Amino acid sequence: MRKKIVAGNWKMNKTYPEAIPLLYGIKDNLFRSQNVAGVLKIIAPPYPYLHDFYESTKGIKNFYVAAQNCSSEESGAFTGEVSAAMIKSVGAQYVILGHSERRQYFNESEQDIMKKVDLALKHDLIPIVCTGENSQSRKENRQFEIVSKQLSESLFHLSPEQFAKIIIAYEPIWAIGTGLTATTAQVQEMHHSIRSFIETKYGSDIAGGVSILYGGSCNVSNSAELFSCSDVDGGLIGGASLKAEDFSNIIRSFPS
Ligand code: 13P
Repeated sequence: MRKKIVAGNWKMNKTYPEAIPLLYGIKDNLFRSQNVAGVLKIIAPPYPYLHDFYESTKGIKNFYVAAQNCSSEESGAFTGEVSAAMIKSVGAQYVILGHSERRQYFNESEQDIMKKVDLALKHDLIPIVCTGENSQSRKENRQFEIVSKQLSESLFHLSPEQFAKIIIAYEPIWAIGTGLTATTAQVQEMHHSIRSFIETKYGSDIAGGVSILYGGSCNVSNSAELFSCSDVDGGLIGGASLKAEDFSNIIRSFPS
């Protein structure tokens, strides 16, 4: 059985006085719900809040904290960067890598992402690696080629034991923050293609065990339908993770 996962990527939103009540709102909301204990819940706040978030959630079953990025360097004179070791040392267990906003605005290459994945694993952080095509590539029907290239160039150097730890997110760029969700057919088709592509390299056991999350305008009104697809194991949520009730309801929307 693959893990069911809902991760909230807060991006660069919420000051500290806004972030704490939101975290408590999510916690309160989930405490009132019996049936989500089995779902892995991950929150990725901005770096400065990681330790506090870890401290205030560490007793809760299946509740973890993630960073939104890490440096591609181990340590040293890289002003403004935050290393995988630092993230691990404040209690985070996961790290989002290769988000399309990092690729687009900070020119991250597959080579950078590969280095970050290696450092994350070295420091015992679980990478959530993002893939996804832009609207132009989708129009040209090149989405499978784009996503396969991202996967092979950033992840296929890993050993089977290492790869088995990775979580994949499929986030079509044209659906992020646009309110334009991919259709369930498009999502299932891509998730199935990702799983098949992984199978060609790592075999059916590893491919069948990797959790693949969907991200891109996933919200309370479409999460149940998306999560009912056989190859969709949960979501990576942006905007809707900034509202306690919406995020909690998304966590509750797996088919029983
Ligand atoms: P939205 O849910 O706001 O579209 O963002 C998705 C995303 O980028 C999560 O990483």
